[in-house]
Amino acid sequence: MQEGQDWVYSDVVKDHFLHPRNYLMGDESKFPYDAMGIVGNPICGDQMKMFIQVKDNKIVDLRWKTYGCASAIASTSALSEIAKGKTLEDALKISAKDIDDYLGNLPKHKFHCSILGHDALKAAIEEYKSKNK
Ligand code: FES
Repeated sequence: MQEGQDWVYSDVVKDHFLHPRNYLMGDESKFPYDAMGIVGNPICGDQMKMFIQVKDNKIVDLRWKTYGCASAIASTSALSEIAKGKTLEDALKISAKDIDDYLGNLPKHKFHCSILGHDALKAAIEEYKSKNK
């Protein structure tokens, strides 16, 4: 990428922003979840909620909502695809780099946006574990 071009989004990022996967449309009551995580990004003030359904220690389905930017939407859409079907332990191992690789690299100054969904997923898993000790 040439200098000054780091704001350019990949086609994969654009696709996930324009067609976000597993986005919760409407009210939270439409998705009966087992646990929920909510986080805010201290850098920009944006928020993310992540809802997970768990069966046999696996994330069988998930939904998310955000007051976040295009990068946060694309990143969380990608994360939701990566995390679905994983065990809770494997989902916790998903890194911001995994999301970045899946998307074909976010602009560097937007990398912090990928952490929003990631942290919300961790919070949801932690809530699930604390409710099911
Ligand atoms: S600018 Fe806030 S999450 Fe991207």
